[in-house]
Amino acid sequence: GLGVINIPVYVHVVYSNANQNISNTQIASQISVLNEDFRKANNDLNLPSGTTFANDATDVEIEFTLANTFRYSNARTSWGTNNAVKSAYPPVSPSTHLNIWVAEIGGGILGYAQFPGGNSATDGVVISPQYFGTTGFVSAPFNKGRTATHEVGHYLNLRHIWGDGRCRQDDFVADTPSSDGPNYGCPSFPTVNCKTPDMTMNYMDYTNDACMYMFTDGQRNRMRAILNPGGARAAL
Ligand code: ARG
Ligand code: ZN
Ligand code: CA
Repeated sequence: GLGVINIPVYVHVVYSNANQNISNTQIASQISVLNEDFRKANNDLNLPSGTTFANDATDVEIEFTLANTFRYSNARTSWGTNNAVKSAYPPVSPSTHLNIWVAEIGGGILGYAQFPGGNSATDGVVISPQYFGTTGFVSAPFNKGRTATHEVGHYLNLRHIWGDGRCRQDDFVADTPSSDGPNYGCPSFPTVNCKTPDMTMNYMDYTNDACMYMFTDGQRNRMRAILNPGGARAAL
């Protein structure tokens, strides 16, 4: 195997007001969360003991290093989900770097990502500033940096835990149980929609930041497969 993989990150801060021009401290807080979550070093792991999920949290062995930050002032106040911000400020070396745009999407949307294998001109992740990092201009209950963890999961080929379908729609990961649709808020265990408990605490559900805290072994393998030689993100 590849051992611990390091992904260098470029952060593009696109702001129309001073709040959105987030601090270097806020950016660093997000890089820290990514490193904790992808190394199973997060201190909020809370899997219900004595259940089928008790031992399912996995160290993905991916780390992230901030390579550079770019800042752009722009009068536009929302950027939508159609890659407009990437057209305005193109990704830098997307085959070797994860590009993250911190820009107001609008409509209460937290973030969006491009799956592996897409157009390099739009490759990367976009997150609204108030959902990026854990300190500064952040907004509960999405102030624990989990939007980036979720979006980087997509960027590394993970689907939503419910497969974007109903109970029988697969997320292509064997050890995540089927679920019927997104869960929100902070569900209690067990939350059952498809015969067995939903893994509401998985980063790829839609629960509050404080209530998602794990990837599984199957998700680890799916993410690392595209980083292996021949994989869509091998150059990272
Ligand atoms: N809605 C976004 C997506 O589907 C992000 C959801 C992130 N959830 C969170 N608790 N931060 O990609
Ligand atoms: Zn998602
Ligand atoms: Ca599954």
